Amino acid sequence: MRKTNQSEPINEFLNKNIQRKPVSFHMPGHKYGRFFSHYIKTGTFKMDITEIPGADNIKKPEGIIKKSLKKIAGEYGSYAAFYLTNGSTSGIHAIIRYASLTGRKILLSRDCHISAVNGTILFDVETAYIPSGNENGIPVPVTAGDVKKYVEKNPDACGVLLTSPNYYGKTADIAKIAHIVHEKGMFLAVDEAHGAHFEFAGLAHLSGIGHGADMVCHSMHKTLPVYNQGAVFHICSDIIDIDKIREAVNMLGTTSPSYPLIASMEKAASYYSLNGKRFYSRLKENILQLKHKLESKTNYKILETDDFTRIVIQTPGNGFKTAAILHDKYKIDIEAADFYHIICIATPSNRRGDFKKLVKALYKIEIPDKIIESPEIPGIPEKLLEQSQAYYMKHKTVPVDMAEGRICGTIIVSYPPGTPLICPGENIDGCIVEYIKIITEAGGNVLGVENNKIPVLE
Ligand SMILES: Cc1ncc(COP(=O)(O)O)c(C=O)c1O
Repeated sequence: MRKTNQSEPINEFLNKNIQRKPVSFHMPGHKYGRFFSHYIKTGTFKMDITEIPGADNIKKPEGIIKKSLKKIAGEYGSYAAFYLTNGSTSGIHAIIRYASLTGRKILLSRDCHISAVNGTILFDVETAYIPSGNENGIPVPVTAGDVKKYVEKNPDACGVLLTSPNYYGKTADIAKIAHIVHEKGMFLAVDEAHGAHFEFAGLAHLSGIGHGADMVCHSMHKTLPVYNQGAVFHICSDIIDIDKIREAVNMLGTTSPSYPLIASMEKAASYYSLNGKRFYSRLKENILQLKHKLESKTNYKILETDDFTRIVIQTPGNGFKTAAILHDKYKIDIEAADFYHIICIATPSNRRGDFKKLVKALYKIEIPDKIIESPEIPGIPEKLLEQSQAYYMKHKTVPVDMAEGRICGTIIVSYPPGTPLICPGENIDGCIVEYIKIITEAGGNVLGVENNKIPVLE
């Protein structure tokens, strides 16, 4: 046996984190297992089985999984549902796979998740982007007007995939967009990764389900008490070939799905479809109190969002710094930050005490004198090559400073909002270079840039 050092870095970190007793305003929605007394009693490891007799098979459900999927589709009001154990990422890949089988070209909202871009590369699907916007300093989803313009310009596309809600709790007008898309004979798929709770939180009117979307993907783990990676793919109309979707979902999913994970999705939907009203009205009350206490005594402002559970707090200074202080000094972890905001995901598993701690901490965090100017998020760069083609061409890396005028060879994403700044095959212009430099200097996270270098085509 080989000798290794005895350290277990992941376990050591997780144990230390438990001892910190942190407050969670981030995903997953169960907030350190507050919802899981049932599982803790039963023992999660004891539920971690394989396809023993009676356990059914996620690839060909005929027993308990089939029954459970029928129930969850009923709870959400969809035609049919599929459990995903690799997050919405695999659902979004399945949508792109579906496009590759039905038409080979798809329209994506530019605020799409990186998985949509990866999907088009994996399945060699031609892509055109619909621009998303900004309002009062935060990103907003695509408008019906822009969707109309782009479906008219791209009649060879077979469908549209858009993100709603976005990270900031802003939603698109799905009903209007669905009408426009269907008129052109295309399908509408909605990446509703951040909206799995809408049905239970009195926000069903914001969902794609029941409002014209043909496919909707929910990351149950983000906003509901579900283990990380738990997601559900919903078919919501009869224009979708369900056999092709099943093939895509099966192709992309693991052959060893986690039963505790699936069971947590079944439990969360079942519980909140019965008790959601009560729990979400208590959550709303806690959030209203937070807003009142913050805005009456400080310069902090909570922005209006369509989804009241998404708390976007305007920080007069640098959001990245506020997030770091909350973590380091107050043991409060939030979901994300940008120049002017911190973003918290609140769920019914957050107790009143969590909100009190957040208010108390923000009362004490000094507003920096120097306010960092936030740069405009750059528009969509010029497309010079198809992204699936550019990705597989020969690359080299160049320093960010010297990248202007080169063709990008990778996907560069800034977190948040976690949407592509530049995709393979697009021209790296001066605005992008400047934006990457400013974001990085302010402590933001830019994926695709390693050691200050960008992969470009040779
Ligand atoms: C808008 C959006 N879509 C899809 C995903 C991917 O979801 P998952 O992490 O469940 O794979 C994310 C993840 O953050 C997201 O923000």
